[in-house]
Parts: sequence; structure tokens; C-alpha cells
Amino acid sequence: MTKRQHALQQTARPQQRRPPAPPAGDLPVRNFSLGEILSRLQPILRPFRFQMIWVVACIVLVSVAVAAMPLFTKYVIDVAIPQRSLKLAAGAMGIFVLVQFTRMLLWYIAQLRVLWIKEKVLFELRTVVFAHLQQLGLRFHGQYAPSFLYDRIFNQSLNGTAGFLMVFFQQVMVYLPGMLFSLGFCLYLSRSMTLVIVVGAVGYVVAARLMSPRIYHKTKAWMDVSNEIARDITDKLRGTKTIQSFAMEERIQEEFEDRLWPMQLKCMDGQIEAMRLSFVTEGLNYLITAAVLIVGVYAILQWHLAVGTLVAFVAYEAMLVSMVQALVNSYGQFMTMRVGFDQLYTVLETRSTVKENPEAKLPAPLRGTLAFEKVTFGYEQKPILHEMSFSVPFGQTVALVGRSGSGKTTVANLLMRFFDPEQGRITLDGVAVRELPLRPYRALFGVVHQDPFLFNETIEANLRYVNPAASEEDLWEVLTRAQAADFVRQLPDGLQYQVGEGGGRLSGGQRQRLAIARCLLNDPRFLILDEATSALDSETEAAVHHAFEELFAGRTVFIIAHRLGTIRRANRVLVLDEGRLVEEGNYESLLAQDGVFRRLHTIATSGSLTGGRKREAGFA
Ligand SMILES: Nc1ncnc2c1ncn2[C@@H]1O[C@H](COP(=O)(O)OP(=O)(O)O)[C@@H](O)[C@H]1O
Ligand SMILES: [Mg+2]
Repeated sequence: MTKRQHALQQTARPQQRRPPAPPAGDLPVRNFSLGEILSRLQPILRPFRFQMIWVVACIVLVSVAVAAMPLFTKYVIDVAIPQRSLKLAAGAMGIFVLVQFTRMLLWYIAQLRVLWIKEKVLFELRTVVFAHLQQLGLRFHGQYAPSFLYDRIFNQSLNGTAGFLMVFFQQVMVYLPGMLFSLGFCLYLSRSMTLVIVVGAVGYVVAARLMSPRIYHKTKAWMDVSNEIARDITDKLRGTKTIQSFAMEERIQEEFEDRLWPMQLKCMDGQIEAMRLSFVTEGLNYLITAAVLIVGVYAILQWHLAVGTLVAFVAYEAMLVSMVQALVNSYGQFMTMRVGFDQLYTVLETRSTVKENPEAKLPAPLRGTLAFEKVTFGYEQKPILHEMSFSVPFGQTVALVGRSGSGKTTVANLLMRFFDPEQGRITLDGVAVRELPLRPYRALFGVVHQDPFLFNETIEANLRYVNPAASEEDLWEVLTRAQAADFVRQLPDGLQYQVGEGGGRLSGGQRQRLAIARCLLNDPRFLILDEATSALDSETEAAVHHAFEELFAGRTVFIIAHRLGTIRRANRVLVLDEGRLVEEGNYESLLAQDGVFRRLHTIATSGSLTGGRKREAGFA
């Protein structure tokens, strides 16, 4: 540890109260080889191949012009001055200006193209990634938070890749040929002196190579921690309400500071490493200059080397060093891109766990019998549903009841194919749903969740996402049927009201009613209401359920509700307990049995129980 780092540690906060939690949902990246990177980028870059060849041609011309610059100085010193001819000097400078102006123009044209290619590539990558993330299953999205994916993929990885493209065309493609041309001119001028600068440049590259893996690892470590911090900040900001209501601001702040400082130390580590590299290279630079001058003066004295040649060499030396330096920087940028690339393609090559058979078709005609056949499923290792079997003919209204955590939502998730069962199968008209086309299958369903998500747009936009063709009357009709029309009319902008992030500018009950309306717009055959009215007061809930009756006709409805009154009219009740189907029948017959349902019912209807006790019993 350097003295400086030590001093920095001293100023760190007193030792951790508790160790920082390990990063949640960290992406286990695969490391791609260079060949793999090229093969992945090839299809994206292919459409631009002719443009890129053209750009490279322009840039190579530019690099010749750059490499030729010291030759003009040499000409003036060794030819024009000894002949005492201002005319020769002016002629040389005329050509010089012409060459350089042409170079500037070429550069400008080439860079405009590069910029365009870069934006197109970014567009391509962004759209590909976005499309891929949209189709990746909930297993993936359950593991990686949106903020994490945004930061890792859209921010770091894509910018890293685009950044490298720029560096490639602005530095690598200029300096690599530039270096070769400069060396060619040098060899032509003096071999021994060329040897001196080549030795210097090689020393330079070796020093840089020795240090760059360390910079790479430190940079990567820094990126990892900074991601973790970003995730933490967004998570805590989202929880501001909870934090303030428990008055835990100080604890959260402390924890934040504890995590922040080590992150900044790591960031500094990377920068210190880079600084060391620049010390080494700067020192080398001076050594090479001194060597060139000594060898040059010796050559002038002993072998009558022209003075102009020495002047040109001093210029070439400076030029070569800055070119090598730029190339080394490009290498660093390349490394950053690799880190980003690994993350990007690890995600892009993650396949959804919900697989689709591309040639599949929905059964026709569709009768609509849905069945679970000995379905066993768990989100992680532990099974949540055990060998569950039931069959629902089209048109039935089925209630799923059971304590909180008994697996009701899981049944809905499996019906929607957000996950596939581990054992057993789910069938539609006797065909395993795995064999059906995914999106047409899902489109048969309408789901309303307990805590529905609304996009941060207007009410109208939220509704229209599911059915862009709906007329304004259609919208008002579904709103009326979902008992939402009244409150929407009272909102300041009506249908144009902005609902806020996640629908946060609406109450839970309002969100739920909008979600019901949204779902009705699609006129789904299968309707899943997962505690869809739980945030409503009893009176509104009763009104909504009354309105539901006509809705339920002509479709299969799965209704999950903890207020048992709302399921009284169901044709069938399935009672779940710890992931097992324990009872089944209609409301009255189940009440007549002395089983789980009756216990749930007794607790729910007992006037002596408070809301809290009911919740304990599993009704919330
Ligand atoms: N995404 C998930 N990852 C891991 N476990 C989950 C997930 N969702 C639910 N579970 C677990 O599955 C069980 C059943 O949950 P759920 O079906 O939501 O119950 P219910 O809807 O009946 O209240 C619970 O023990 C819950 O902890
Ligand atoms: Mg649930």
C-alpha cells in the first residue's frame, strides 16, 4: 500500500459496523475470446463494411500527411537555408499547407461517417438488447433488477462498445499506419537513429503492457462496486416512504456511507495505477529524447549527418511516442470494451427458461379446457407446488383460496407461462401449453394483479397499449364496467391524467380498477383476477363484483380473493394449502366439510376478529 493510500484509509470512516452485503443479483459473466467477439460483432458491422473501408482509406491518407510533416522542416533546413533561397522555403511551405488542409478535410469527412456508423451500431445494439430483455422470462428478471440491467447493459456495455469504435477510428486507424509511415521515413533518413527510437518505443510498449492487466482488473472491480452502489441508491430511494415512516434515515445513511467509501477507494486504486503508468512512460520519453540527441550529435560530428535530419528525428521521436501512447490508451479502451462486451453478450446469450416451439399453433377450434396434470414447481430448489392436478372446462368461474403463501399466485404464474413446471404439465384442450406458441397463448388471458403496474404515462396511453384500435367510447365503456369511470372523470385531466411512476399518483384501489379496465379492453377468454380488488373498500368491491357477473359470462375466470364473500358465486372453489390442492367443491359443500375452507371461513366471518387477526390467519 502506498503512503497515499494509507493516508486515505486513515481518513475513512471508523471500522465498519457490519460488513457490506454481497452484491445482490450480480451477473455471472462469461469471458468471450477475441475470436468470439469478432464473430458476434461481425453481423452488426457487416452492413457498414464498404463505408468502413472508405473511412479507413481516408484515414490512412491522413496518417501519411501526418508522418510527412517533419520532412518539410528537414527540407527547409537542409536545402532551402544552405541555398539561401526564400523561394524554395516558400514553395515547400505552400505544399505543406496544401497537404495539411487536404488532410483536415479528409479527416472531417471520415469522422462524420464514423459518427454515423457509431450511432447506427448503437441503435442496433440497443434495439437488440431491448428486444431480448423483453422476451427473457421472469426467472431472469426476478434475478436482475431493472436499475442493474440499465446500468450494466445500456450504460456501461453499450457505451464501452461505442467508445471503442470511436477510439478505433480516431486513434488506432490513424496512429498504426502513421507509425509505420513515420518509421519508413525514419529508415530512409538514418538507420542507426531509427534503431534508437525503435528501442525506446518497444520499452514503452513493454512498460504499458506490464501495467495494463492490473488497470483492467482494478477498473473492473471499480465498475462492479459502482454498480452495486447504484443499485443500492435506487433501491433506497424507492423505499423513501418506508425509510421515513420507520425513522431509519440515519441507519440507512450510515450504511450508505459505509458502502460508498470502499467503492471510492477502489476507484482511486484504478486511477493511481493509471498515474503510475503515466510516470513510467513520461520518464521513458525523456530518456529517448536524450538518447536521440546524443546519437544524433555524434552522427553529425562523425558521419556528417545533416542537421535537418536530426531536427526531423527529434520531431519523429515526439510523434512516435505520442502515437504509441495513444495506441496504449486505445488498448485500455479496448479492455474496457471487453468488460462491457462480456456483460452484454452474457445477457444476449441467456436464453429464456420458457422455451417456445416456433412452428406451434393454437388448437383449432379452441374449446378452452385448462388443466394442471401433476404439476410440481419451485422458483428455486424448494418445490412450491406439489403434484397439483385439476381441470377447468371453458366457462367456469373458479376460485382459488388458501392462506397467504399457499401458492395461489404461483398457479396464476404457471397458467400464464411466466414459468414452466418442473414435472407434470399444464394443458389447453389436452395439448401441453409448452407445445403452444407463447404469445398467442398468453393473449388468450387477461390478468389483474394485486399490485398492478401502470406505465408512467396518461391513463389513455396505458389503456391503449393493450388495444391501440380502441375508440374513446370503448375506453369509457371498460372504465365504467370496472367502476373506474367516476374517478377518472373527476381527475384534473381525465383520460389525459399522468399516472406517475408505476401509477404512483393514484390510490391502490384506483390502480386496480384501471388494471381491470385495461384487461377488459382485450376481451380475454381466460381472466385471472389475483386479489384484483383487494385494495378497494368493501362497498366498492361489492359494486365491482356485482358488475363482474355479466363479465364472467362467456369466459373462464380464475378468481383469487381473500374476502370470501366475493367468491360465493364461483362454480368451484379450489383450496390450496402449502402448495397442495387439499379441497375442492362448491362454496356450500366445502362449508359443510370440516376442513381448511371452513376454518378459513370461520376466521373471515367471525366478527370478533380484527383485521390484523384475519391477516394472520392468511386473509391478506
Ligand atoms: N419469485 C419468487 N421467487 C422465489 N419464491 C417465490 C417467488 N414468488 C413466490 N415465492 C414463494 O412461493 C410461495 C407461494 O407464493 P405465492 O404463490 O405468491 O402465494 P400466494 O399467492 O398464495 O400468497 C411463497 O412461499 C413465496 O415465498
Ligand atoms: Mg398471491
